[in-house]
Amino acid sequence: MHLFRCTLIAAAALAAPLAHAQSSAKLKVGLMLPATGTFAALGTAIENGFKLYVQEQGGRLAGREVEYVRVDDESDPAKATDNVNKLIKRDNVDVIVGTVHSGVAMAMARVARETGTMLIVPNAGADAITGAMCAPNVFRTSFSNWQSSYALGDVLVKQGKKRAVTITWKYAAGDEMAAAFKEGFEKAGGQVVKQLTLPFPNVEFQALLTEIAATKPDATFAFFAGGGAVKFVKDYAAAGLNKTIPLYGPGFLTDGTLEAQGEAAQGIYTTLHYADGLKTPRDDAFRLNYAKTFKLQPDVYAVQGYDAAQLLAIGLKAVGGDLTKKDAMYAAMRNARIDSPRGTFTISKAGNPVQDIYLRQVVGTENRVVGVAAKALADPARGCRL
Ligand code: PHB
Repeated sequence: MHLFRCTLIAAAALAAPLAHAQSSAKLKVGLMLPATGTFAALGTAIENGFKLYVQEQGGRLAGREVEYVRVDDESDPAKATDNVNKLIKRDNVDVIVGTVHSGVAMAMARVARETGTMLIVPNAGADAITGAMCAPNVFRTSFSNWQSSYALGDVLVKQGKKRAVTITWKYAAGDEMAAAFKEGFEKAGGQVVKQLTLPFPNVEFQALLTEIAATKPDATFAFFAGGGAVKFVKDYAAAGLNKTIPLYGPGFLTDGTLEAQGEAAQGIYTTLHYADGLKTPRDDAFRLNYAKTFKLQPDVYAVQGYDAAQLLAIGLKAVGGDLTKKDAMYAAMRNARIDSPRGTFTISKAGNPVQDIYLRQVVGTENRVVGVAAKALADPARGCRL
């Protein structure tokens, strides 16, 4: 009898893992993010946010323990294809989460389309990712470059600013944000009188600041982020320009950077899909847990990472953790309503968030919410055929 019972228990113990081999194996998440360079802090915030959500679920999504493989993409488009192929071919990841830089992310999206690997973009705004290059296995939990800057044009006109200069790094993100701003600004009756650029990730702004001073616009639109945004906002104020030509931009200009920008950033208006002072129970709980876990205040990048994990969890849950059921998983993700710290958002057919764009103003070390610049704004997804 005793022997019989032991055998039964042993057989049951053996059978259980076999029956669920597919859905109980570890889930391998490939994090392709910048760990060095001007966007390094953004990569850290995204990784922290992603891991925080997984940790809040007990380290498992749909019953599968999550394991991470990381690669530093250095925000270098020239290395992007090799880096993403390492994760897919060498590490055999189940899903790729990345990245910050639009140029790198476009290379990732190309490989994801070709190989069918699931990709969740937790920052990079390249319009094509959920536009001409859209694919059933490609999702974004951040924004499109168009979405980040389109609504700002109307804000400037309402504040009496009719002539603006734009200044950005010369690459997809800068080009597309400046173009979206111009589109919204000119539609509202404004005029972009000069478009200035410098190569990514240069921070030698002096000659361009002199040009802005000589042009004397009513306002300047700027896209920079991370270390570059800190230096630009400080240089702009040091040149005295903030006193006469107010600075505006998508919120990346002042997000995660205010401690370092200090006095130079005070009063700047920006638009973004996240803000300080939302004061919702969801955001308060997220901020508290993030601060406790990492001894840091969260920013928009942390939220986007957190929501990448939430979106993945929704897909996995729909198929009981079985990644081979791709159609059902992607359908659940496309139909998701994400209970984000930023506020609830949905996913468009093209795979991009449909979300509120806040108007914020810098007060002390906060990007304080002062209104909603665009309600439930959807990217036009130009060129997406899905
Ligand atoms: C981008 O390259 O798409 C990008 C980078 C940093 C940001 C926003 C967008 O903060």
